[in-house]
Amino acid sequence: FRVPTPVNEPVKGHAPGSPERIELVKELKRIKQVERDIPMHIGGQEVRTGRKLPLAPPHDHKHVLAHFHEGDASHVNQAIDAALNARHAWASLPWEERAAIFLKAAELLAGPYRARLNAATMLGQSKNAFQAEIDAACELIDFLRFNVHFAQEIYRQQPESAPGMWNRLEHRPLEGFVFALTPFNFTSIAANLPVSAALMGNVTVWKPAYPQIYSAQVLMELFIEAGVPAGVINLIYVDGPVAGDVIFKHRDFAGIHFTGSTKVFQTIWGEIGQNIHRYKSYPRIVGETGGKDFILAHPSAHAKAVATSISRGAFEYQGQKCSAASRVYLPSNLAEEILGYVKQDVESMKMGDVEDFTNFINAVITEASFDKLAKFIDEAKASPDAEIVVGGNYDKSIGYFVQPTVIRAKDPKYTTMCEELFGPVVTVYVYDENEFEQTLELVDSTSPYALTGAIFSQDRYAIDLATKKLVNAAGNFYINDKPTGAVVGQQPFGGARASGTNDKAGSLLNLQRWVSPRAIKETF
Ligand code: NAD
Ligand code: ALA
Repeated sequence: FRVPTPVNEPVKGHAPGSPERIELVKELKRIKQVERDIPMHIGGQEVRTGRKLPLAPPHDHKHVLAHFHEGDASHVNQAIDAALNARHAWASLPWEERAAIFLKAAELLAGPYRARLNAATMLGQSKNAFQAEIDAACELIDFLRFNVHFAQEIYRQQPESAPGMWNRLEHRPLEGFVFALTPFNFTSIAANLPVSAALMGNVTVWKPAYPQIYSAQVLMELFIEAGVPAGVINLIYVDGPVAGDVIFKHRDFAGIHFTGSTKVFQTIWGEIGQNIHRYKSYPRIVGETGGKDFILAHPSAHAKAVATSISRGAFEYQGQKCSAASRVYLPSNLAEEILGYVKQDVESMKMGDVEDFTNFINAVITEASFDKLAKFIDEAKASPDAEIVVGGNYDKSIGYFVQPTVIRAKDPKYTTMCEELFGPVVTVYVYDENEFEQTLELVDSTSPYALTGAIFSQDRYAIDLATKKLVNAAGNFYINDKPTGAVVGQQPFGGARASGTNDKAGSLLNLQRWVSPRAIKETF
């Protein structure tokens, strides 16, 4: 038995008049015509609580996409019970049967669900068509297909046996349920967190971030159509701390698959620590968290390539990628040329809603995010240690629009060089071109995070030096490329330090965390 060899899903271009563009426009219209009523999904049942909260596109305050039913602690308990009731049957199913369900989900997504999920991601999370396509379609299809391939490798791992005995390894799922706590910014990541644990035989409770609920509903419909049985993935809309309070005290809590901010992950880790005596087993704690991702140009770098990487790496999806470039170090010999190109790029970036396919920049996700970004921009305008190179405008009258902004800092430890802002704001520090080695030290020590980073250089010695000196500064390190856009199966993704447990999404390492192997020895 061999699973199909996975290949990365090609990105569809959505050129004007293309079949995928026509389909997507139809879906966008369809979604906007019907104000949906979105239930939770617990044990195969749609659960409506009557406590309905609106979902509006971040780029258009006037429009309501849907209302979702918010649950409370009792629904968290129901979801846990439903998961535990489904556990035995799901864990006992041959793994190939589980794999077939997720391979079917990949095919449904590559076909009839592609436009639906892309449109939901565009309107719900304010992503343009290209950003939705590389996330909700391609990255998620890749996760589904490659996970099955990695799972096969795990299930094939068996120990040696000697004459007269037979040693076996049984790759059991965890004893209990897995909590998937997911972020707003990637539909693919939100889906992958419950799915990867479920593929390995676990039952899950999934709580998405509220701004991602519209696409979470479409995902749930996809999973049901693909054949995920009732109770295996239970989708709840409950305030994070309320859900956490029930889950982290539960005896059968077996693991958390988290992606989100460092602060929330640290809070959760503390709660798990306080409750550790309650659990049957030590829970698996897998978390991918924040970043303060860097681009470092060496004096030998290709100026245009650096500039394009800043423009794309910092501003695609409004800088709301954990991997987004948000601090940049430019050598004095190239700084003005590179900043000149970036300025040109930014001035040509159109900003607006997602239905105009020529808009490169859409809205940031929430009012809280908008206000935080506006505050940092205003501080930079007023500070003697910073200047705005380009951008600096914002407006929330129609939607949460923040213009792509480049701040130039005189102090390499200026606040926006250190803190994760999670928006279209990048800060540049210009270093003396003779101080490359000292700058490596600066890059390594400025931020507590270590998610992604990029070095640009045409000098092999400089590349080698940077790769060695920055060994712990990024879990994903790019040479002459932007620090975003990791591809499943090609660049396993994740960081260490304050950026996470580095269990590499889209790899065998991640799936390995969702099994608890039993070694069996039989003598003859
Ligand atoms: P967030 O931390 O605000 O929320 C993540 C999830 O946790 C949400 O479902 C939220 O409702 C829930 N939550 C919040 N407080 C909670 C609490 N006290 N107890 C239990 N649950 C709680 O993150 P976000 O704003 O949705 O996403 C953005 C963050 O995610 C950024 O910091 C970004 O860097 C990070 N991120 C990291 C990666 C990665 O791979 N490293 C990928 C995507 C996003
Ligand atoms: N996979 C996403 C990226 O690398 C997080 O940008």
